[in-house]
Amino acid sequence: KPRRTVVVRAEAINPGIRKTEDKVVGSVVIAELNKPLTAYCSRCWRSGTFPLCDGSHVKHNKATGDNVGPLLVKKQ
Ligand code: FES
Repeated sequence: KPRRTVVVRAEAINPGIRKTEDKVVGSVVIAELNKPLTAYCSRCWRSGTFPLCDGSHVKHNKATGDNVGPLLVKKQ
């Protein structure tokens, strides 16, 4: 079975979202969800609609070989 090559780079993950803040933190109150499913950009930091995922992780993954994706929050 071929082994997957993992490339780790020592550079910032966040290219430009809320860079004036020491730490970008978001929160969701689950009881306030009004949609059955919401996708949050939790890993690629390239969404144009941050904190929501806009699919930009697909382009990032193709360009870098990375495998990041959104955090899905589902209404119970
Ligand atoms: Fe960042 Fe989808 S756009 S996870």
